[in-house]
Amino acid sequence: MKRTLLITGGAGFIGSHVVRLFVNKYPDYQVVNLDALTYAGNLENLLDIQDKPNYVFEKGDITDEARIEALFGQYAFDGVIHLAAESHVDRSIMDPLAFIKTNVLGTATLLNVARQHWKGHEDGKLFYHVSTDEVYGSLGQEGLFTEQTPYDPRSPYSASKASSDHFVKAYYHTYHLPVVLSNCSNNYGSNHFPEKLIPLAIHNIKHSKPVPVYGKGDNIRDWLFVEDHARAIDTIFHHGRLGETYNIGGFNEWKNIDLIHLLCKIMDEKLQRAPGTSAQLITFVKDRAGHDLRYAIDATKLNTELGWSPSLQFEEGLEKTVAWYLANETWLDNVTSGAYQQYYQDQYNKR
Ligand code: NAD
Ligand code: DAU
Repeated sequence: MKRTLLITGGAGFIGSHVVRLFVNKYPDYQVVNLDALTYAGNLENLLDIQDKPNYVFEKGDITDEARIEALFGQYAFDGVIHLAAESHVDRSIMDPLAFIKTNVLGTATLLNVARQHWKGHEDGKLFYHVSTDEVYGSLGQEGLFTEQTPYDPRSPYSASKASSDHFVKAYYHTYHLPVVLSNCSNNYGSNHFPEKLIPLAIHNIKHSKPVPVYGKGDNIRDWLFVEDHARAIDTIFHHGRLGETYNIGGFNEWKNIDLIHLLCKIMDEKLQRAPGTSAQLITFVKDRAGHDLRYAIDATKLNTELGWSPSLQFEEGLEKTVAWYLANETWLDNVTSGAYQQYYQDQYNKR
């Protein structure tokens, strides 16, 4: 079947894996990747598919209504997979308005244009909104986030994502826009921008720089290999029920400090350093403001209804990830030059 899909944020971490999967797996689909190429967007992530006949890149901002209108007019999309966002919690604490603009206004702009273009012939159309488990707030030591967990966002980032989720659901109920949503836990893997914990730690260990751990390193995250997330998005896009939310997670909880010790061990092995060398770089720094204690997803619905489950054990995925970063030094060097230096100064030297 032929389809024309708009994927937003396809030059970012998760988006690039989603674009690759759809371009390679569905040669009959025309995939249009719309991305503003902010500091987090990088076309180097897509070098392997950039010349495929079913792939087009369009540089543009999701808050630019006229541009979105023109793209819908030009391509007559029948599906949208919306990933473009400001995605880093620490940056949202520094500059909340940028998050409100892209995550709330940008999502609402896309919804509105899709509604106008699909009005009266919604059959076969789908607006898929990619969201996060952070909208559910913070767990104590027990329990898991299910699709019924009430929203309780606690950072500007999660508040903006929660707001965007509400708009998506409002467009479903009010205008019958065909939508589906997913809320996923922490991803890791190749092409992850090194402001996030795992790639930042790999980069710093490689350069024998301090590895900053917030607070006591007691916070817990549920980690999922990014290619498993992309597979889940493929499954939900094709088989998810309209108006539904699907939680996606790895059933893989790690305390930050334990994760960093595992990473240090893998790095020592890969860099042929004496055991314990990298762990000496661990440096406890001032905690993140409003730091959520624990996230953990119950992905039973996605598993029982649509048959998805994670494919990789964490140790194996982390080792693959480290190997990718060590084999792709140019990618890492390119993204950590320039503006990254200023961000790093602002975020860590204040402590
Ligand atoms: P990312 O920051 O790596 O990439 C975001 C992409 O969006 C970049 O390519 C950027 O250039 C683009 N973008 C930003 N603002 C834009 C705008 N105004 N117009 C057009 N493009 C714009 O993010 P990511 O980690 O790949 O996350 C992708 C999506 O998945 C986000 O919606 C995020 O909330 C969600 N999510 C991420 C995780 C995770 O662990 N990283 C987990 C669950 C959900
Ligand atoms: O849960 C899904 C979310 O996961 C996504 O929606 C976000 O887009 C994504 O960035 C991620 O958010 P986190 O805040 O959990 O990820 P981050 O990598 O920034 O931090 C992971 C944990 O590590 C968190 O408890 C904070 C801690 N941390 C982070 C950094 C950058 C440190 O201890 N030191 C650091 O330098």
